Amino acid sequence: MTDVTTTTKVLGLIGDPVSNSLSPRLQNWAIDRLGLDYRYFAFPVKVGAVKEAVIGARELGLKGLNVTVPHKKAAVEYVDCLSRAARVTGAVNTIKFGEGEKIEGDNTDWQGFLKSLELHDFDPDGKKCLVFGAGGAAAGVVYGLVRKGVQNIVIVNRTEAKGVELARKMEGLSPGVDLAARPLAGSDIGERIECSDLVVNATSVGTGSTRGEAIWDDASDFHSEQIVYDLIYNPSPTKLLKLAAESGATTIDGLDMLILQGLESLKSWTGEEFVSGETVDELRQYLRASGGLN
Ligand code: ATR
Repeated sequence: MTDVTTTTKVLGLIGDPVSNSLSPRLQNWAIDRLGLDYRYFAFPVKVGAVKEAVIGARELGLKGLNVTVPHKKAAVEYVDCLSRAARVTGAVNTIKFGEGEKIEGDNTDWQGFLKSLELHDFDPDGKKCLVFGAGGAAAGVVYGLVRKGVQNIVIVNRTEAKGVELARKMEGLSPGVDLAARPLAGSDIGERIECSDLVVNATSVGTGSTRGEAIWDDASDFHSEQIVYDLIYNPSPTKLLKLAAESGATTIDGLDMLILQGLESLKSWTGEEFVSGETVDELRQYLRASGGLN
């Protein structure tokens, strides 16, 4: 670790709570490995104080911030310019304090998601996809898949109207992609899962108060020709991934995406990046060993 001196640049995370976040370990591991003169800290920030936190961070000379739950939407209001991904998804997870006074808001979730698929040798181009969820996490996933030119995406959500709204927001970004929204209670969901190359859980079902539950629990709809991806990384595997694995599907948990979106943020702040999948493996092991995950 490089010494912390008066020239050390500061990065951070704002959210509430941040006490269980893996980002400080992840980012400081990467900072050390790259030999950068930066440090990364977690700052708990209450709802209603996001503007003050962002302006304060700029005034204190921070180089960048990650933004996590519940501030990703609110942060959109307090930056000077938004990347296309942040604008379309309506969520900022990365803030960069550029030269001069400009505060830039970006969303790296979709890049982390796509890079994790790449690590698993899955090219979404022309594929059939089904995404459970219509919140911020689902928006990042759907945005990434649309950008990659998948054949179609079915958005399945408990509250159908939110799925319809998400599909509407993404329409027109890539005219060849067929987007549809269905309610979770719809009678055709099993059939649609069966004919999907990629099934993604972007809901919170399977963690927190729903730990041990699965957004879809009919294992007979999964099969060996598909990837089932759960954005949840704690616990791992979730019930959904266990069921899918039993049916022969390839499964991916959310840790790779967490790591890769974080490394994308670090790249945007420092210009430095890792290129190898081995680094992600090492980080996975480090975070699983030290991060209180199970
Ligand atoms: P995030 O930003 O992490 O995506 P979010 O915006 O609150 O969080 O979205 C949570 C997603 O999980 C939503 O799609 C939500 O469905 P609704 O839109 O119907 O609320 C979904 N979700 C959460 N708990 C659920 C449950 N018990 N059953 C089904 N879906 C659930």
